[in-house]
Amino acid sequence: MQTNDSNERILNPEPITTDENDNSLRPRVLRDYIGQDKVKSNLSVFMHSAKKRGTALDHVLLYGPPGLGKTTLSRIIANEMCVDIQITSGPAIERAGDLAAILTSLQDNSVLFIDEIHRLNRAVEEILYPAMEDFALDMVLGKGLMARTVRVPLKNFTLVGATTRAGMLSAPLRDRFGVICRLDMYNPDDLALIITRSARILCINISAEACLEIASRSRGTPRIANRLLKRLRDFAEYYNSDSITTEIAKDGLAKLEVDALGLDRVDITILNTIIEKFDGGPVGLDTLAAASGEENNTIEDVYEPYLLQLGFITRTPRGRICLRRAYEHLGLKYTPSAESMLNSETNEVGTK
Ligand SMILES: Nc1ncnc2c1ncn2[C@@H]1O[C@H](COP(=O)(O)OP(=O)(O)O)[C@@H](O)[C@H]1O
Ligand SMILES: [Mg+2]
Repeated sequence: MQTNDSNERILNPEPITTDENDNSLRPRVLRDYIGQDKVKSNLSVFMHSAKKRGTALDHVLLYGPPGLGKTTLSRIIANEMCVDIQITSGPAIERAGDLAAILTSLQDNSVLFIDEIHRLNRAVEEILYPAMEDFALDMVLGKGLMARTVRVPLKNFTLVGATTRAGMLSAPLRDRFGVICRLDMYNPDDLALIITRSARILCINISAEACLEIASRSRGTPRIANRLLKRLRDFAEYYNSDSITTEIAKDGLAKLEVDALGLDRVDITILNTIIEKFDGGPVGLDTLAAASGEENNTIEDVYEPYLLQLGFITRTPRGRICLRRAYEHLGLKYTPSAESMLNSETNEVGTK
């Protein structure tokens, strides 16, 4: 049966209902956070000096596709700085007053984590500007001619914002972050380390080769790697095996319809739409969304980043086009339209 419910899709990088025990798998200290070396080394310098000065760490913006470890990193920051953390999200803060209440309750030097910060509404966002810059709240008392603004001081705090869309943040908000970190998709070796660590925590036996097999099919995303590990544990139990062998991993992943590179039916539909219906592109986002039955946002946040990372598609001002590697993966002859070839050449040169 064709299911278009991306919420329960095994390769969905966003949390799904079966991601129980996820907290036990979250590293608590920077040392256990695997990969993202540049981000880690910069953050450890900034945290070290903030601690030495006894001040709050500068505000940090973490951005990158879902499931790469933004929430985990925000908790690590609070833990390493030995401070409290308050966790909320853009859509959860509806009114300016809600944010004012949170800000006034913060302890000295503590962390306020706002997930999906690009979804804050304008009125709420404006409260954040003086809070981030001057650690103050500007409150308007009274109405009409009697209205006056009073400035209420706040404790020093660190705002850690997370977003999948740095481009959707307004410039004034983005400019108020002192530290901006982009999280990249993980390479298979780092993912294999993450899987090995998770298997140890969950007391699952797994061969090194099976770890790599899962790693290369996890779309560069730790959340997916952990989820596939748990599902393969079910297959091992079903086959009465005390460990996840390579054979069980391959068999289980095939049954879960995860291909050798971690593509599933929706990815293949997207690629086939571009190649078969549009001669390789360019194809607009709306068309791809309609063909695959997914929302535009889901295509942009969930599917595209990995297809871009694989070098299977590229984005042009006129839409998405498929590159040679996508044809090869699907076992198709590379016969793109003249327009998409022209676009892909300029883009391939541009991205190298
Ligand atoms: N660098 C990492 N090392 C080990 N595990 C990680 C790492 N990054 C993420 N994870 C795991 O992946 C899961 C998803 O991470 P999370 O921080 O919730 O992602 P995001 O907030 O970016 O969507 C977590 O449960 C965590 O166990
Ligand atoms: Mg998160």
